[in-house]
Amino acid sequence: MSELKMQKKPRKPKELENQPGKYDPRNKLNDLTGKEWLLLTKSFWETEPSPLDKTAYAHPAPFLIKDVQKLISMFTKKEMTVLDPFVGSGTTLIACNEIGRNGIGIDLNENYRELFNRRLSESNIELNSDIKYVVGNSLYAIQDIGMVDYIVTSPPYFNILKNDSKGTRNNSGKAYRMAAREGIDFYSDLLDDIGNFDKYDDFISALEAIMGKAYQHLNNKKYATIIMSDFTVNKKEQPVQGDIISMMNRIGFEFCGTTVLLQPVKPLYPFGYPYAYKINHHHQNLMTFRKVEI
Ligand SMILES: C[S@@+](CC[C@H](N)C(=O)[O-])C[C@H]1O[C@@H](n2cnc3c(N)ncnc32)[C@H](O)[C@@H]1O
Repeated sequence: MSELKMQKKPRKPKELENQPGKYDPRNKLNDLTGKEWLLLTKSFWETEPSPLDKTAYAHPAPFLIKDVQKLISMFTKKEMTVLDPFVGSGTTLIACNEIGRNGIGIDLNENYRELFNRRLSESNIELNSDIKYVVGNSLYAIQDIGMVDYIVTSPPYFNILKNDSKGTRNNSGKAYRMAAREGIDFYSDLLDDIGNFDKYDDFISALEAIMGKAYQHLNNKKYATIIMSDFTVNKKEQPVQGDIISMMNRIGFEFCGTTVLLQPVKPLYPFGYPYAYKINHHHQNLMTFRKVEI
């Protein structure tokens, strides 16, 4: 064996292994040390619940505070401003508040602002950052906000909450449905609700119009993350991730990569069994983009 092959990589002294790492003063993106930054670049994460998520489940599809907190800490520094144009129960705003970022959230549905206020009072959360919840259609409401440093959002997944999904919405008591949520509702009957379109292409166009407005309010060289999973349209698997990336590219965003957010405790449904293979989506795609204008 050659001498080169025999050389081992020097091991870090034991006392340094659990250290948070060093902050590089050239870092203009976030407040993370090199080690913390590196850990967040891994292409999969496992979803992490927190006690602050509890009240959010009155909303049909909230995301979890810790998951969005990780994104915000990767893409912003303290006191920077984050926009969520589909803020729902206000998860992004609570995550911003927890880690000292300012947040602007927009949602069409007045009831969800009330839910956000309930989350604050039931979890005894005091707002210490500049946090704004705006009720309105993002297509128009975005024009009244200033410039922001990061966009993170989970739009409606087309109209999947409205389809009948044959048994996915109620709990038959069988073991494979143990974690199913009963009584799932859709967001609203409002015409501006982009979860109410009949055609998938119209949904993508409406989302493109809103993200196009958001692009104009994002500072240059800053990032945007869209959280979505793939789903079926008219019982056919739709490559939603590809459609979202093409849509964001049309607006001018550069695609930076997808972090797969694993959701291992979701129930398994025997959709095609025993006739055909049908996938169970047990992850979300966290698709990140950058605005780069010369
Ligand atoms: C997937 S949910 C967001 C859930 C949110 N991430 C949370 O943690 O609660 C999508 C939200 O988009 C909202 N929405 C739909 N169309 C909208 C529009 N045109 N403008 C603003 N909000 C809209 C719905 O009311 C719904 O609350």
